[in-house]
Amino acid sequence: MTESGGVLGVIGAGTMGAGIAQVALEAGWTVRLHDAQPGAFDRGQSRIADGLRRRAAKRGLAFDAERAWIQGSLARLEECPDPVAAAAGADLVIEAIVEDIDAKRALFAQLDAAAGPDTILATNTSALSVTAIAEAATHPQRVLGLHFFNPAPVLLLVEVVAGARTDSTVLDRATSIVGGWGKTAVRSADSPGFIVNRVNRPFTIEALRMLEAGEARVAEIDAAIRGDGFPMGPFELMDLVGLDVNLAAATAVWAGLGRPERLRPSPIQAWLVAEGRLGRKSGAGFYRFGQEHDPVPDPIPHNVAVPVRPERALTPERIVRRIRAAIAEEAVMARDEGVATDLDIDTAMWLGAAHPEGPFAWLRRQARAAGA
Ligand code: NAI
Repeated sequence: MTESGGVLGVIGAGTMGAGIAQVALEAGWTVRLHDAQPGAFDRGQSRIADGLRRRAAKRGLAFDAERAWIQGSLARLEECPDPVAAAAGADLVIEAIVEDIDAKRALFAQLDAAAGPDTILATNTSALSVTAIAEAATHPQRVLGLHFFNPAPVLLLVEVVAGARTDSTVLDRATSIVGGWGKTAVRSADSPGFIVNRVNRPFTIEALRMLEAGEARVAEIDAAIRGDGFPMGPFELMDLVGLDVNLAAATAVWAGLGRPERLRPSPIQAWLVAEGRLGRKSGAGFYRFGQEHDPVPDPIPHNVAVPVRPERALTPERIVRRIRAAIAEEAVMARDEGVATDLDIDTAMWLGAAHPEGPFAWLRRQARAAGA
């Protein structure tokens, strides 16, 4: 690694690979990018160029300075015909290919054989076991998880995940590299959902439980949560992310943790996915998205979600408390299982899930209020 930046290999030029490449280019690194699909590099390159233009506009650079900065950054982006070329001479290689264990294991065996002895190999997997991926390499001690969030150029969080045999110096070096790129690293154990995708599960699941029990309506829950300082409510979030994507994540974490009842995915969500109501991308989810008006709640049949019963109706304060408490309970469990420290969980929920404060900070505030 030189003062002006090191060399990063990126495998996969899709949403995450392009985003991560942009982050490293912005920090002055050289990026060697490989994608197996014809045309994917070009699409990734134009995505990176758009991202750099947006960044330059935000920085308020003058026209000439902006052009020079973008061209200078793109000049450090190289197309590689195969993973071997991307790994050769790299300080760090980050894999962001399809979320498939066999594909990732095959790639890591190849990368490990191609990379020099000091190269760190990282996976950006969201849900697979880092250990299972690392074991495909002859040197699993140099393999770790570096879990970026989407959009990678904007969101500051990176979960640094140790596999069973990852060397602690590799974790430290990777933490220092992403820190140099302006990211905030938190340490997570190699456990289902790592920190954010696990601790944030109750944000949507507890809201769905309220629908299942006829305790509140979709728009009331979203309004209550927004009123508490969250950028959007749980149903707005599911509509944005895609109900199918959210359900797949919920199911993976639930299954990975041994199918605990508290995290059981909701039949309401499964029904909506089966109906093709996937959120914004399909035009309807919990809300209906018309061209000419703001989204309006899309009715859910009474045999799927029971109507709100006046005697059970929750106030906005109770809605917020139930959801916050469920998240805090999951956070305490994750901490007690050794997934991460209180501080790292709070940081991760703040930077990775845009919570107004972390669950432990919220618990402390509740304790102070109760004692006052
Ligand atoms: P994507 O589908 O946008 O991009 C994947 C790219 O990898 C495609 O261009 C594809 O052609 C290429 N690819 C597939 N197999 C390959 C192989 N064997 N060798 C070389 N290139 C190959 O996927 P996305 O969303 O960028 O996700 C990539 C990884 O990042 C996945 O593991 C995903 O779970 C993870 N991730 C995704 C996030 C998201 O919000 N999209 C957030 C954090 C992690």
